[in-house]
Amino acid sequence: MNQPWDIPSAISLYNIDRWGTGYFGINDRGHLNVMPTQDTSTPIDMVEVLEEAKSRGLTFPMVLRFQDLLRHRVEQINRAFGDAINESGYKSAYRGVFPIKVNQLREVVEEIIDAGEPFHFGIEAGSKPELLAAIAIHRDPESLIICNGYKDSLFIQNALLGTKLGKKVIMVVEKLEELQQIIQVALEVGVKPLIGIRVRLATKGAGKWATSGGENAKFGLSTADLVAASEMLKSAGLADSLQLVHFHVGSQVPDIGTIKRAVREAARFYAKLAKMGHQMGYIDVGGGLGVDYDGSRSAFESSTNYSLAEYARDIVWNIMEVCDSESVAHPIIVSESGRAIVAHHSVLVVEAFGAIEKDRERIPVEPRDSDPKQVSEMIDLLKNLTQQNRIETLHDAQQIKEQTQSMFDLGLLDLDSKARIEQVFWKIAHRIVELCKGMKFIPDEVKELEVALGDQYVCNFSVFQSLLDHWALGQLFPIMPVDHLDRFPERNATLVDITCDSDGKIAKFIDLSDIKDTLPLHRLNGSPYYIGIFLMGAYQDIMGDLHNLFGRVNEAHVFLDEDEESGWYIEETIEGSTIGEVLSMVQWNQSELIRQVKAQVDAAIKSDRLKPNDAMRLLANYEKALQGYTYLQINGN
Ligand SMILES: Cc1ncc(COP(=O)(O)O)c(C=O)c1O
Repeated sequence: MNQPWDIPSAISLYNIDRWGTGYFGINDRGHLNVMPTQDTSTPIDMVEVLEEAKSRGLTFPMVLRFQDLLRHRVEQINRAFGDAINESGYKSAYRGVFPIKVNQLREVVEEIIDAGEPFHFGIEAGSKPELLAAIAIHRDPESLIICNGYKDSLFIQNALLGTKLGKKVIMVVEKLEELQQIIQVALEVGVKPLIGIRVRLATKGAGKWATSGGENAKFGLSTADLVAASEMLKSAGLADSLQLVHFHVGSQVPDIGTIKRAVREAARFYAKLAKMGHQMGYIDVGGGLGVDYDGSRSAFESSTNYSLAEYARDIVWNIMEVCDSESVAHPIIVSESGRAIVAHHSVLVVEAFGAIEKDRERIPVEPRDSDPKQVSEMIDLLKNLTQQNRIETLHDAQQIKEQTQSMFDLGLLDLDSKARIEQVFWKIAHRIVELCKGMKFIPDEVKELEVALGDQYVCNFSVFQSLLDHWALGQLFPIMPVDHLDRFPERNATLVDITCDSDGKIAKFIDLSDIKDTLPLHRLNGSPYYIGIFLMGAYQDIMGDLHNLFGRVNEAHVFLDEDEESGWYIEETIEGSTIGEVLSMVQWNQSELIRQVKAQVDAAIKSDRLKPNDAMRLLANYEKALQGYTYLQINGN
């Protein structure tokens, strides 16, 4: 197709200059570029990275992690708060923490802690496993460990172990009974605990995670609970243990108004507690800092109508104003941004290995004398289709298609006729969509036709393992090809995965003003075609499940390095789960499996159903498969 096309056309089609926020672009070769520090002079050509990863034996699907990008995010957030504090004359500091639940991968957490060291950036843990990891990795006595989530006495003992080791561990009380337990264990262990309280705000969030806030939230103390907690601490002689007020209105808050209201409400609680005689020192604004997944910079749920700088300024300014009005000293500000730190650094790359195209001609459709009348009528409609009669033709074609289905259901139509009628229908549909292209007004029924005509690109991955939030919550991620971007993408498609589940698909895509039902892609031509799913670093890594026993995917960790000719290198590759590993997670013991199959193979040899050589080869293949990747090996890769 002779469609005028250039790199700026690709940039604008996929909105990469909007959601990419300076981290992603397209180079002259039509490859996707990654700029991990937003510096355009050190781009990483993603196609080259994929080639290098393949040469190291990694196959698809594959996650690429850009570790410098992760560092850059940590620096950006800390700088944003630092700047906001300096500009406003705020008289205290910022001490952010990384909520480990958003991505617990050791390499990710280590990178964040390392990049955050100059800023005394700490960790947030929400469970015993997370706390044990946090205590081990945490070194900086100036930075915080914040403990959220429900706690039992083992949790509390380990938090107090951290305190004994000289760490600033603050246990955030999620419900009143928990406070009693903290006091009791602290007295037993003989350590003065640092305590925070999660307040239940009236302010409710918006977007997909809004239920984390508001009066019916699962966590947090009501005002009455708060007063009781204050009394409880005072009577235990631990009034000065209470130092922090925490809230969390939900992740991915799209509207800055929600943040402003919640911060003001929490700051008021903070000030009142300070006035009640507690030595308050910290206000923790939780998570919620959103990521502009669709690039629209709007209050739509996959976007944010604010920038990082605005977010930091609003938090600092509102806390300052409330505390000043209450004549209370400015607290240290803690935030628990997870998504905004890790989302950008990882890209899932999947390979499309087949396309289901409705309008592709598979059988000849020329008229025959023996044709039932529906076939010849449909062929006539195609022959006589014009710009003027296009909508009437569509209606007539739809009517014939419906009749065809009824006749088939009644056993009155043979397969060949049905196939030819349907094929001509899709040809007519395709022409009608083409005839309407570029028109000022396109009727809804033609738009629906265009979606229905969309191809299905079959991709080697599992939505349930790699994109759980898309399946469960309809969260949108930017998706685009990583190569061939110098060519017009002539097809429109949805993506389907290789699970045996009709939900295993991506049929909603980002758009600046709406949600798109299909994604423009290039026609598959037999060579590998790679599609990138971007901003994947938050939550998806850990939430994925083993549906159909598709396991964790391969990973490559990419670092900038000016000594390398390419400017980058792959420091580490992590192999995804093997078939044997995923089977053992559901109690299938590998050696037992082999033993059982071997016994059957032996029996088959004995009864002459298999020759010994063939049998041994088949058994070796079975054993080899147990060590292999759970995903498809396409073209032997
Ligand atoms: C208590 C708490 N803190 C922090 C976070 C991280 O939120 P986000 O990823 O939106 O920054 C969450 C996630 O929902 C949370 O529940």
